[in-house]
Amino acid sequence: MSNKTFADNFLRGHSAIVTGGGSGIGKGIVDAYLEHGCNVAIVGRKKDRLDATAAELMRKHNNGTLCVAVQADVRDYKLLSEAFDNAAKQIGRITILVNGAAGNFLAPITGLSSNAFKTVMDIDTVGTFNASKLAHEKWFKENGGNIINLSANLHMTAQVLQVHAGAAKAAIDAMTGHMAVEWGGENIRVNSICIGPIDETEGFSRLLPPNLIEDMRQNIPLLRFGKIQDIANMCLYLSSPASSYVTGAIIKVDGGSTFTSGCSMPQYMNKMKSFKSKL
Ligand code: COA
Repeated sequence: MSNKTFADNFLRGHSAIVTGGGSGIGKGIVDAYLEHGCNVAIVGRKKDRLDATAAELMRKHNNGTLCVAVQADVRDYKLLSEAFDNAAKQIGRITILVNGAAGNFLAPITGLSSNAFKTVMDIDTVGTFNASKLAHEKWFKENGGNIINLSANLHMTAQVLQVHAGAAKAAIDAMTGHMAVEWGGENIRVNSICIGPIDETEGFSRLLPPNLIEDMRQNIPLLRFGKIQDIANMCLYLSSPASSYVTGAIIKVDGGSTFTSGCSMPQYMNKMKSFKSKL
């Protein structure tokens, strides 16, 4: 990943926690932060994957920045608190939090148990609440800070087979506003990135049926799927002084697809149902 839009070291002196940073979009954000001089702690559930990603990105960015892996489940407040302390011990006081940890699968409402719905709400919504509250308590209320929530446009288009993830992301967008208002006076900015379909991610291969991909691409105003770099670029912007007056914003990075998505059309329901989501 290379991005020359932003000055090489503009995040030097900053330290970020990225939950869900072990793979996919989260990993791309970690990569971009390291490239721009920001130390990063990756927080996630799978220790092997976290360790491998941290080692790979440390090797790639030989520029004095630190990338460390800290295992925790964002649903467990106490363990997450310990993980955050551990992260700060290794990379310094945290100035940026990216809430990227999420869980998802395709399921119709009728095929979703109460526990399945709750599981996704717990990972996405409660996890975002837990991490934000801990970052506020430990560092941001005294020193200011920057919270970036990775949301999605599922609820904006009422996408079929996604009531659990859509509800979770809608709640995250609501939280973005509440936290921006309550914490604005403490020099804390809170924003949501509503992510559209991004190519070369686990979500893309697991959640989009191959037979519908070309159809979907043609429904996107920019006629292409997003790239991980598109989301990383928005995180860089939101972490930079260029966005110093931006808070409480729900920012779509979706190629315009929220306006044109066909996934909420009833006929997609049957087409998508036949796609067995791989776990
Ligand atoms: N359809 C319907 N229900 C599903 C499901 C699916 N495809 N996948 C999981 N569930 C249900 C389970 O049956 C369970 O409900 P039950 O107790 O009533 O049977 C509930 O969700 C919890 O699942 P479980 O696997 O025990 O929870 P977990 O906390 O270990 O993991 C996920 C939850 C979402 C992370 C897991 O399903 C998963 O690994 N998903 C794929 C990876 C992923 O989400 N990647 C990131 C986003 S692309």
